[in-house]
Amino acid sequence: MCYAIPGQIVKIKDRLAVVDYFGECRNVLRDFSDVKIGDFVYAQGGIIINKIPEGEAKEILEFWQDKFFELKKIDRRVSKIHQSKVSDNLLAILQKVNLNQKLADDDLLKLLNASAEQELKLVFETANNIRQKEHDNACCVHGIIEFSNYCQNNCWYCGIRKSQKIDRYRMSLDEIIKAAKSAVNKLGFKALVLQSGEDNWYTEDKLVRLVKEIKKLNVLIFLSIGERPKKTYKKLYEAGARANLLRFEISNKKIFQKLRPGADFDKRLELIEYTKKLGYILATGFLVGLPNETSDDIINNIKLTKSLKADMYSFGPLIPAAGTPLKNQKKVDKNLLLKIIAITRSLDRQAKILVTTALETLDKNAKRAGLLAGANSLMLNITPSNFRKKYIIYPGRPDMDKEINQSVKETINLLYSIGRAPTDVGI
Ligand code: 5AD
Ligand code: SF4
Repeated sequence: MCYAIPGQIVKIKDRLAVVDYFGECRNVLRDFSDVKIGDFVYAQGGIIINKIPEGEAKEILEFWQDKFFELKKIDRRVSKIHQSKVSDNLLAILQKVNLNQKLADDDLLKLLNASAEQELKLVFETANNIRQKEHDNACCVHGIIEFSNYCQNNCWYCGIRKSQKIDRYRMSLDEIIKAAKSAVNKLGFKALVLQSGEDNWYTEDKLVRLVKEIKKLNVLIFLSIGERPKKTYKKLYEAGARANLLRFEISNKKIFQKLRPGADFDKRLELIEYTKKLGYILATGFLVGLPNETSDDIINNIKLTKSLKADMYSFGPLIPAAGTPLKNQKKVDKNLLLKIIAITRSLDRQAKILVTTALETLDKNAKRAGLLAGANSLMLNITPSNFRKKYIIYPGRPDMDKEINQSVKETINLLYSIGRAPTDVGI
């Protein structure tokens, strides 16, 4: 989806183009397309992904013209801050947030510890208000294709870890390409995430072939394939992949090493940094609710994500999965996740913040709640349903049996109801 609104190029400066959307101008990278002033284009994640014929663009823009301004109006209304009864201390911190002043760790901890209903309401509203001011009503909606549930690792928290006895599948390259084509051509997705366990059956050559084929659909390609050699990430960038989703999982090295046997925290960070340097749009983040995790760890997780210069934050609650060493771990409170979204928005105003499916698993209204607490990105599962059912990283995932069409429709209705437009218009 990310039914990106077509924009018209009004200026070109080196690798950047200035694109006009109903009078609003945004800078985008001219990375792929050979474009000139006057052309109509789609942009995703700040990159031009496609040039479109003028006639087609004008038709789409005509549909969007009224909707564009109507949704903005709704969003402005919904994102107002209302008076709430909270302590002077919390008010002072939120005032700092409003003024974009530096927040001390102690301030962040106080936000994380907010618990009364009025406090939570004000923390979420403040973050949503910043989101509106910084990003307007744009919300990206990426499609995710989970193409293999094989994994060579044994992370303690994961339902598809190597030693888990589950029905494994691998989609063939043709099956993945078919799913991608359908997502782009039938459903209008402009950004696709290709996700799998760490599965070396998909060799570098296979992945390059896959990326090259999917790239022909003029879509932003996100990789989410775990730790691969740097050289592979380089080759995949050259093949046309432009974004990388790779969480560091937890900034506390001790917990990391215990829960990810054989993995090396520093190596993982180095890889994340390397892909960012290569030019990938970086989505990274962490899990919340791991054993022995403290509030300080959570704050450090947010700060580490920021220091990695993440373009998109991806964090979610641990959902205990049967058969894993963490099967009895305590359920995470959804408000904790919403507070983390709000704190992240306060610390990193420019970033995209995802509402993850794991959060939706905790609470069926989480998509809406997350978007109203500062988030501005979603991912929809578009894996063909026979495979989707087997990608059980954790149980109870939403929309397992739902037709993709239906999920798309429901998501659009939700976005419209709070004045968000499923667009992604530049950096
Ligand atoms: N609950 C929630 N998220 C999980 N992940 C793995 N196992 C679980 C679980 N039980 C997340 C990890 C990984 C992503 C693909 O899924 O953070 O990076
Ligand atoms: Fe594999 Fe990722 Fe699950 Fe770890 S979290 S076992 S790397 S799929």
